[in-house]
Amino acid sequence: MHERISPATRVSGEICLPGDKSISHRYALIAAIAEGESRIHDFSTGADCHSTLGCVRALGIDVEEQGTEVIIRGRGLDGLTRPAADLDAGNSGSTIRMLSGILAAQSFPSRIMGDASLSRRPMERVMKPLAEMGASISAREGRFPPLEIHGGKLRPIDYTLPVPSAQVKSCVLFAGLYGNGTTVVREPLRSRDHTEIALREFGAEIRVERRVITLEGRPRLTGRELFVPSDLSSAAFFIVAALLVPGSELVIRGVGLNPTRSTLLDVLVSMGASIRILEVTEKNGELIGQISVKSSRLRGGVIERGTTAALIDEIPVLAILGAASEEGLTVRDAAELRVKETDRIATVAENLRRMGIAPEELPDGICIPGRQQFRAAAVDSFGDHRIAMAFSIAALLADGPCEIRDADAASVSFPEFFRILRQVTA
Ligand code: S3P
Repeated sequence: MHERISPATRVSGEICLPGDKSISHRYALIAAIAEGESRIHDFSTGADCHSTLGCVRALGIDVEEQGTEVIIRGRGLDGLTRPAADLDAGNSGSTIRMLSGILAAQSFPSRIMGDASLSRRPMERVMKPLAEMGASISAREGRFPPLEIHGGKLRPIDYTLPVPSAQVKSCVLFAGLYGNGTTVVREPLRSRDHTEIALREFGAEIRVERRVITLEGRPRLTGRELFVPSDLSSAAFFIVAALLVPGSELVIRGVGLNPTRSTLLDVLVSMGASIRILEVTEKNGELIGQISVKSSRLRGGVIERGTTAALIDEIPVLAILGAASEEGLTVRDAAELRVKETDRIATVAENLRRMGIAPEELPDGICIPGRQQFRAAAVDSFGDHRIAMAFSIAALLADGPCEIRDADAASVSFPEFFRILRQVTA
């Protein structure tokens, strides 16, 4: 499916967005191995989180969906059953990496695979710690899906993450739930902490001191009622749109503002963005609030080190902002972007060039000149949801209508994206 997007004169209104993808995955996985029923409100509507639900069902867990409310009847730590076929993680790195931690502790073998994009993404980052804990995992060419997992009794470990990755951290913590004793995970940089917060909600004994996480094995996890905040990474597209299209004013309600996710907002404010956060509350240990945005003149700047890691998913849309900013944007320390759903340094650079902008590609980043006019063009999602959405925002600023090819990729995280985009630009 292709989408045609015309330049916008204004972005305005009040919107609510679907539930956070990262949090939805975690609630579904933990609910499956908790005892009793969990009722999850505002579960992500994206295909990725439905891949997680599909896997959970295939492992013998009863999952009922009533719109965006999901009821999961967990059967406890040892209640999963052997799947009849390969588990399908679809496009979802979070599903395959986090679920592997649970599969590694099962008494039955399993195989988990994904689509063409996921089949090119590195898995040795989860294979290594799980092997240290006692699981036996094989992969295509030693590192790519499908993963064949022969699990069993796991030993707790003390593990220092070689890459800052919340998926790997979560995988080790999930495996650690099954070890007899204390599992420790040490992070080089702080990554999103939804797993730590969710595990505590479900009753696990988990402590976090600076960047060291300590988890006691074999906890009693109990099902419960949970509310998923709106996804800040989805909101990012609309925030950038409202900042860049002159005369805009947009309010986004009920957005997750977990400090390990909200670096984007700090960076935007430091560049001159007019963003106000109101009505902040806490639900299930997660901060939630309202974001109100007005179009602003943005300086641009440099994003590097820990900041890059903290807003890695927002870099495609920040690239658009960079090109429209006064000074342009340089992103460094972003080699991880090369192993996302696409090589996002290459796909961002390619689409920018199609729109008449000349970025400089670095091995671990990108340098984008400022004060650019986006030219009308046909751009491609390359099958990557965040590329489809980022360049739809670029299209709002172009000098004529643009075509986004293979735009339905957006539904991996945000099926309502184009509908809401039309609503706020109408
Ligand atoms: C995620 C962690 C990040 C992020 C991804 C979601 C998560 O990946 O890019 O979109 O939910 O834990 P890494 O763990 O690979 O950094």
